[in-house]
Amino acid sequence: MEPLLEVKNLTKVFEGRKQEEFAAVNQVSFSLYPHETLGIVGESGSGKSTVVKAITRLIDVSEGELLLHGQDITHVKGKKLREAYRRFQMVFQSAAGSFDPRRTLGDGIGESLRNSGISRKETKERVKELLMQCGLPKEYADRYPHEVSGGQCQRAAIARALAIRPEILICDEATSALDVTVQKQIIQLLKNLQKTYGMSYLFICHDLALVQLFCDRVLVMQEGRIVEEGTPNEIIMHPQTDYTKQLVEAVL
Ligand SMILES: Nc1ncnc2c1ncn2[C@@H]1O[C@H](COP(=O)(O)OP(=O)(O)OP(=O)(O)O)[C@@H](O)[C@H]1O
Ligand SMILES: [Mg+2]
Repeated sequence: MEPLLEVKNLTKVFEGRKQEEFAAVNQVSFSLYPHETLGIVGESGSGKSTVVKAITRLIDVSEGELLLHGQDITHVKGKKLREAYRRFQMVFQSAAGSFDPRRTLGDGIGESLRNSGISRKETKERVKELLMQCGLPKEYADRYPHEVSGGQCQRAAIARALAIRPEILICDEATSALDVTVQKQIIQLLKNLQKTYGMSYLFICHDLALVQLFCDRVLVMQEGRIVEEGTPNEIIMHPQTDYTKQLVEAVL
């Protein structure tokens, strides 16, 4: 199968506190396949979010290539960039913080639809549908972010991410702020949505137990590099590095 997204030798160099340069991400390469759920685990500061920001072009890469359906999108600009980035959507840890507090969840979820020229009426209908698909009552369209729980807000953030039918959904610690039961519910929701829409996930997480529940394959990052790669069970059965051994001990 052809990969959907290929990341080749991705490197991101930042200037450190003492003006010296350091690579937050160092020669990282991986592929994401259609319908696949790929996990990235790694200790705090290992470069997971930097990988995500580089892939979604929130930051420029220092070195390396990004290929989407085999096409180089590393340096595309303007219309081509917007076209490429319709295919990616993100869900972050702080769902509440990602919605405008003065606007309803329905407004937030519908924004990208209206921007793409869909009428107000149709957008409203579509927002209700999306809310229900994400396990929320359609009436929640009229609620403000502070009027729902963290888990509900995360569901609304997923609804918003799905609105323009991405091919790749990137979840950066999307479940980390939630309690264990709600985490599992969100994972179940993501699995069901994947069956409906067939998208691929990049799932960044600290918790190997959740990764085992959800991911087909997992990358372990340490100090900006990928140090291990395999199915969650392979990683758990035969951890190679001390860091991974610690992660595994936390699961067992
Ligand atoms: N804009 C920036 N300028 C300078 N350094 C940065 C910048 N963004 C990130 N870093 C540094 O890059 C390294 C990797 O950060 P990153 O946010 O990718 O880690 P992470 O693996 O996502 O960690 P966490 O699990 O805590 O979210 C860290 O040392 C961080 O301080
Ligand atoms: Mg991070």
